[in-house]
Amino acid sequence: MKILPGPASKELGEKIAHLLGVQTVPVFFKNFPDGESYVRLEGEVEGEIAIIVQTTSPPQDTRLIQLALIADAAKRNNAVKVVAVVPYLAYARQDKVFLKGEPISIEAVARMLKAAGVDSLITVNVHQQNILAKFPFQAKSISAIPLLAEHFRLRGFKGAFALAPDKGAISIAEEAAKVLGGDYGYLEKHRDRYTGLVSVEKKEFDVKGKTAIIFDDIISTGGTIVAAANVLRELGAAKIYAACVHPLLVGEAERRIREAGVEEIIGTDSVPSHVSKVSLAPLIAQALRELQSG
Ligand code: R5P
Repeated sequence: MKILPGPASKELGEKIAHLLGVQTVPVFFKNFPDGESYVRLEGEVEGEIAIIVQTTSPPQDTRLIQLALIADAAKRNNAVKVVAVVPYLAYARQDKVFLKGEPISIEAVARMLKAAGVDSLITVNVHQQNILAKFPFQAKSISAIPLLAEHFRLRGFKGAFALAPDKGAISIAEEAAKVLGGDYGYLEKHRDRYTGLVSVEKKEFDVKGKTAIIFDDIISTGGTIVAAANVLRELGAAKIYAACVHPLLVGEAERRIREAGVEEIIGTDSVPSHVSKVSLAPLIAQALRELQSG
């Protein structure tokens, strides 16, 4: 097994290789003057399982193409198997036709990766687990929520309330509560398909005077966290924190979240940023150990 750290996840790829005690194959990359991507493997993969580590957070399209090109290069250079480790899987939220005339983007992406040479894929907290069954290769999603909750537990947040900002994320709140040892709950969220605006139904939780942590898979524009934080504030939570696996933090998201009374945002290095205080490396290394032994 060799790790190929893609341009989007160089540091994470190197950490994983270090934990596994396996070699890396550096990937040289550049953009041509017209914007096209170029990659080159700077080492041998012949006879190896090639593990490409490449997240596909913005700029998603460039990163997806780089991933496809690295997979093609690995196959051409006789890797026995090409595994894509894609912590943030772009386009996963367009997993059905919501409005007539739309594509199912994530299925198109999966077919593209298959055609490029990807034999299997590991991602982290994919938006909907069931989409993976439609992929034309083996695909698995692993959860980083226990790692995020552990980060808070080690900082003394034992017993904090874990909130999922929508019903679909209830299992996330459950997972977090198992580590934190406190109570948990979820909100009912509605997003307008045309304006993107988020609203949540108010619910009653016993958070008065308590610390509450909102757990979600993705923070993009911050609208979901702001809506959830407003509910928690109205219910009298003493301190509110936000945790997510994929901190996309688009535009003014961080400022909006802070202004909604959230003390701190904690994310993982799925999307490297100043809030990425939790590394996915141990989790992914473990998944790769299992892949190798199974
Ligand atoms: C959607 O259901 C996801 O789980 C996240 O809640 C959502 O993607 C967050 O987006 P935003 O930060 O733009 O509200």
